[in-house]
Amino acid sequence: MGEMTSQLERLVHSPAGAALVVVSVALTLLAMVASSLRTLGGLYRHFIRGGRNLRQYGEWAVVTGATDGIGKAYAEALAKQRLRLVLISRTASRLEEEAKAITDKFGVEVRVVAADLTSTDPAVFSRIQEALKPLDVGILVNNAGMSYPHPEYMHVVGDEDIKNIVNLNVLSLSKLCRIVLGGMKERGRGLIVNVGSGAATAIPSGPLLAVYTASKAYVDALSRSLDHEYREFGVRVQNQAPLFVATKMSKIRRAEGRARIDAPTPEVWAAAAVRAMGYETVFFPYWFHALQAAAVKLLPASLVQYQVMQIHRSLRRAAYRKKSKAAAELLRARSGNEAGEAPAPTANGVKKDD
Ligand SMILES: NC(=O)c1ccc[n+]([C@@H]2O[C@H](COP(=O)([O-])OP(=O)(O)OC[C@H]3O[C@@H](n4cnc5c(N)ncnc54)[C@H](OP(=O)(O)O)[C@@H]3O)[C@@H](O)[C@H]2O)c1
Repeated sequence: MGEMTSQLERLVHSPAGAALVVVSVALTLLAMVASSLRTLGGLYRHFIRGGRNLRQYGEWAVVTGATDGIGKAYAEALAKQRLRLVLISRTASRLEEEAKAITDKFGVEVRVVAADLTSTDPAVFSRIQEALKPLDVGILVNNAGMSYPHPEYMHVVGDEDIKNIVNLNVLSLSKLCRIVLGGMKERGRGLIVNVGSGAATAIPSGPLLAVYTASKAYVDALSRSLDHEYREFGVRVQNQAPLFVATKMSKIRRAEGRARIDAPTPEVWAAAAVRAMGYETVFFPYWFHALQAAAVKLLPASLVQYQVMQIHRSLRRAAYRKKSKAAAELLRARSGNEAGEAPAPTANGVKKDD
């Protein structure tokens, strides 16, 4: 022990030892400065930096999946910035209703296109292209997206679910980019916001949501590549990635009207997203999601993956419990009905994804 201590002392007092100490201290200081700058940068981006003037990109913004959740909130936040809107989703009646609500509240013109974006029918995209052709489209928000009804092992996921996820999250999103990019390049201005997901952009893997996670990894890679491809023409492409947001898709409800800190309301999320438009290529607009993504980076990937698998496994179990409870209730109601005791449940009695 005494021998080792004196060897260490000799090393510290030698020129090589002194240099080693200086380099270690300098590296530690550098790491501390870099980490402080990162923290300050994050605080600035999320709480101080103002939003861009979004009308610089053009007069119109197109939002897909605009009748509910995050898309509806994007549409309203953009209308607040005095942009005229084209809203796209499947249900014509909900689109008309939302268009009227936005025009009444913000006084901006709103057009709608009812289209099922899981479709591969070229006529669907020709219709969208025709509707957008005469417009000075400055912003496209590719928000519509879908996942499995609940986390599931790949061999159990239906063919139809896989086809719809790929068609909507990958194919339609790419086709819509293609439809607007030509005009944006010609005008020398434009912005495409693709709504990705923390599942692919923050977390190392998405077990039990494999196809969804892979589709969002595509969104991430496409956005990064297109941003560099079109930047020289004045056109920007971003991946704005949420983690949990309280919507129908995440099935997270607000307790007593209040959102969880890790799952903001769509309105809170979209306000942050609109403020971040035109800045970073890949961004977590909501501050707590950015914090979560940064924390994930610091932890060992194996630990994060284990935890994600545990969470998805328990969500899957909960979904199965819900399904068997609904089936048992249906059976009870049916047998009661046959015995003339109770009325059969209404079509609304069982939720779509039960
Ligand atoms: N919520 C989250 O926690 C979360 C987390 C990460 C990423 N994201 C991403 O955020 C985006 C929005 O999610 P959300 O939670 O807001 O979803 P949501 O609440 O389920 O809303 C979906 C919207 O998309 C429309 N839509 C659904 N299928 C469509 C189709 N085939 N064609 C055209 N429109 C369609 C719906 O209207 P119609 O039914 O009338 O068509 C509705 O307006 C998605 O890309 C999702 O992957 C969400």
